[in-house]
Amino acid sequence: MTKADLSLKFGVDYYPEHWPKSRWAKDAELMGELSFNIVRLAEFSWSKIEPREGEYNFEWLDEAINILATKGIKAIIGTPTAAPPPWIIKKHPDVLRVDPHGVRSPEGTRRNYCPNNPNYIMYTKRIVKALALHYRDNPNVIGWQIDNEFGIDPCYCENCIKAFRNWLKNKYGSLENLNSSCGFTFWSQEYSDWDEIFPPRPPLDMQNPSLCLDWHRFLNDSWLKYQQIQVDIIREIAPHHIVTHNFMGLYKELDYFKLAEPLDIVSFDYYPKWSSNIDYTRAAMAHDVMRSLKKKPYWIMELQSGAVKVHTAPIPKPGEIRLWTLQSIARGADGILYFRWRSCRFGAEEYWHGILDHDGVPRRRFHEIRKVSEDLKKIEPHIGGTNVKPEVAFILSYDNLWAFDLEVGYGGKNYYGLDSWEPSLDFYRVLYSRNLPVDFVDPSREDLFNYKTVFVPSLMLINKTIEENLKSYVKKGGILIAIPRTGAKDWNNVITDTALPSALSDLFGITVEEYTGLSDGEKVSIETNKNILNRKVVGKGRCWAEMLQPKEGTETIAYYTADIYTNEPAATINNYGSGLAIYIGSFLDENLYSTILDWIMEKGDIKPTFPPTDGLEAVERIGSSGRIIFALNHGEHTIQIPLKGEYYEIISGEKVSDIIKIEGLDTKVLKPLS
Ligand code: GLA
Ligand code: ZN
Repeated sequence: MTKADLSLKFGVDYYPEHWPKSRWAKDAELMGELSFNIVRLAEFSWSKIEPREGEYNFEWLDEAINILATKGIKAIIGTPTAAPPPWIIKKHPDVLRVDPHGVRSPEGTRRNYCPNNPNYIMYTKRIVKALALHYRDNPNVIGWQIDNEFGIDPCYCENCIKAFRNWLKNKYGSLENLNSSCGFTFWSQEYSDWDEIFPPRPPLDMQNPSLCLDWHRFLNDSWLKYQQIQVDIIREIAPHHIVTHNFMGLYKELDYFKLAEPLDIVSFDYYPKWSSNIDYTRAAMAHDVMRSLKKKPYWIMELQSGAVKVHTAPIPKPGEIRLWTLQSIARGADGILYFRWRSCRFGAEEYWHGILDHDGVPRRRFHEIRKVSEDLKKIEPHIGGTNVKPEVAFILSYDNLWAFDLEVGYGGKNYYGLDSWEPSLDFYRVLYSRNLPVDFVDPSREDLFNYKTVFVPSLMLINKTIEENLKSYVKKGGILIAIPRTGAKDWNNVITDTALPSALSDLFGITVEEYTGLSDGEKVSIETNKNILNRKVVGKGRCWAEMLQPKEGTETIAYYTADIYTNEPAATINNYGSGLAIYIGSFLDENLYSTILDWIMEKGDIKPTFPPTDGLEAVERIGSSGRIIFALNHGEHTIQIPLKGEYYEIISGEKVSDIIKIEGLDTKVLKPLS
């Protein structure tokens, strides 16, 4: 057997166990009407598959798979480990996680288990093995989703505490090294025995930042290990199957690069509509992160197809499900599964609506998806082997996101008053409005030479590998842009004893002379230097301001014009090797970022797909057969985009030139003809 063909997958998350068998054939028939070719099954069905310890029942699942197969629909099976059945909990209550106050997670729900519990690991191995053995030769099963939406879910049980101590022992080798690397002389915390160490409990602003970060890293590693246990079993038994996990976009508590590494594909659970206003920029960034984890096309394992259980979040408007589907494909998805087939009548998700309502009657959302399937049939032949190929990269270091959020100030907010995604999002908004996609790059594992410019969002923790990576990128001609707190700490989350940006001072040609936090709502005024950036723009910095001290040869591209650092440099540029290193001392507004970006686009010859247009999201997928441009209109009103040259519009089958009109919530898919 060969690995299943990874061309466009189109389908739904289906829970046949929630419905009488007599309905299954009807469901399969309706799915056939939508041209579905895949379903995800069984992810929370442990109590159905193993109702009592060691007693397996696959018949119902075999039957569902057979019925779906009559319509050409294949299955991805979810390993059911996210929801332990009651019999495991009764026999081994210790599988439930323990919170910082010593209280066990509730029974009767999901994601309540400890990944380091030996009993749970034993049951996990057994069920995954049984499933893999049963389905490895079933031609209608193509792969597996491991568990469901892993989260950091801290556990303070005895097993976790012991495992944490071992983790620290492995990392630091000796107590002397641990004590000195983490600064445990502070508040008399030097350890003389590994068993004296406990995971930090909230409030975390009163705990050692190095230990807090290591605890987070340990928890992250625990989930990686837990996932790996399942991956190894499936790889051994069913090496021809695809293995994936469903990620949550901008969820940041797990190192998604590492979680994605052992998998064949990344899948994304995409729920854009949590209120009446959808933040499409944030959504686009989530897609870009998902695609970046493996730098290849990903799947949407759950795409919202009805209202979520938030009463202020309205039902998708006509056209929105189609728009979200095409947006996903545009940003690099090669598989779309909607969540869920039919809204469930019972259980905690009674109001997480699916394609069908509780009564199972196909209505507007069903008909819209039928239209999508027709569109996809036209689009599919053009996107095989293509992907989004950005010229701009953002550094993404999960260790850094954690460290940034762990700098908890008084009052519980982070020290800078910013969530750790915000420094990235601020600049991403400006790129997004110019129709420039972004690749997110792990600076410890990937080089940067493929990109014309690289943005470094508050890369506070730095090590030798990252330092050298950034320097060699600029040396060879790259344009690097960094913002506050770059290089402020070592990899153990301890502040450097050299002038900031420490090891990168020579790269940026500056030191930070002084810095200050800005209270909520307070801003500093900053003006760009027209002589260099071509435009004199006055804008604001928020949350934080650094007074920069340029070295010889470094030029100032923006000054503070009022407030505490009046007339002092706020942003600088340095020639380093054959590249340019820009340092910005505050968290800038859109105006200032736009001015800097426009200048970089000109310098770096970075060309957007289409000019900025309100409501437009334009992205290209590129492959050996050329470029396909997706132009999506998120707004309600028709927009017009000027075209250079002639294009073939794939959905309508028409040729277009000069100008293209896109109605509200509609999408055009364009292939350049000239
Ligand atoms: C998540 C989960 C699903 C389901 C949906 C609800 O993304 O993966 O199991 O709970 O949310 O929409
Ligand atoms: Zn535990």
